[in-house]
Amino acid sequence: MRVLVAGATGVVGHPLVGALRARGHQVSALVRQGSRARAPEADDVMVADALDRQALLSAVSAARPEVVVHQMSALRLLRDDPAGAFALTARLRTEGTANLVAAARAAGARRLVAQSIAFAAAPAGDPAGNPVVDEDAPLYVDAPDPGWAATVRAVAELERLVLGSEDLAGVALRYGTLYGPRTAYARNGGTTQAVLAGRLPLPEGGSGITSFLHVEDAVGATVAAVESDVTGVFHVTDDDPAPAAQWLPHYARTLAGPSPRTIPAALAPRLLGWFMAHQLTAAHGAANDRARTALGWKPLRPSWRDGLGEE
Ligand SMILES: NC(=O)c1ccc[n+]([C@@H]2O[C@H](COP(=O)([O-])OP(=O)(O)OC[C@H]3O[C@@H](n4cnc5c(N)ncnc54)[C@H](OP(=O)(O)O)[C@@H]3O)[C@@H](O)[C@H]2O)c1
Repeated sequence: MRVLVAGATGVVGHPLVGALRARGHQVSALVRQGSRARAPEADDVMVADALDRQALLSAVSAARPEVVVHQMSALRLLRDDPAGAFALTARLRTEGTANLVAAARAAGARRLVAQSIAFAAAPAGDPAGNPVVDEDAPLYVDAPDPGWAATVRAVAELERLVLGSEDLAGVALRYGTLYGPRTAYARNGGTTQAVLAGRLPLPEGGSGITSFLHVEDAVGATVAAVESDVTGVFHVTDDDPAPAAQWLPHYARTLAGPSPRTIPAALAPRLLGWFMAHQLTAAHGAANDRARTALGWKPLRPSWRDGLGEE
């Protein structure tokens, strides 16, 4: 098949191009002008900024893809400019996705597969009583933190756009918290550096649940979604959703870093920021049963215990 990957220099996009080509697909890598030197080896390289609608329409039309994959975000800026990273990522999820849907349709593509996130569900009571949710759980669009509420609304809009076009079969893959090469949990990643410096303490109880996903499994599930005919929203997560009280000390040990100190839960938002405090104290995990059944996919790394912090 002819497949176009938007975000082809990214954490998932880059290895995805190689994985699709290894399956025999003809792959166009869509990159921005300034990132051309970092483009993966591909059958062709198209250049456009997704926020420039006309440029995107031309580039996607020239590639004539049957399937378009959306892996665009600005989260690489997180370390230096968190507010800017979230604002630009929200724009890519809304305006960028609308442009990509229009470009895919104009090019005659029949399918669109997009990256979403598995950690945007609203908390429903005590996470210890209901630690893992499925794709029907409501999104946290009214989160008390305005930044996270804006992020989740942009995620909801991305999914609405991806699933809402009649002549384009849409799939939103809600990836778990990514670990592995080039992620925040890689050896030189931001979360690893915070743990090594003792800057990621454990809020008392540590009952927020994280569903992790190795980058290789994000790539594998995306290849499966490209090749499948199913549509809809799928959690793409490992099989081992875990409370912070388990994964954070395990991760610190693997890194040979200091044991995370325990802090009162009430102080967590001020010390860690609202999102990290929420993740460590109240978030739900995400069940992957639908992706397993509908996509015929399963994680090759079923548990974060066998790799988080090792590469
Ligand atoms: N589920 C998760 O846990 C999750 C999800 C997303 C991200 N993250 C974290 O965030 C970091 C980055 O991950 P990522 O794969 O989302 O981001 P990424 O590696 O930065 O990839 C994003 C891609 O989008 C492209 N892009 C950005 N703005 C664009 C625009 N205006 N037009 C066209 N393309 C544009 C980038 O191209 P350029 O090379 O031109 O910038 C890049 O190819 C990692 O540390 C990862 O751990 C985690």
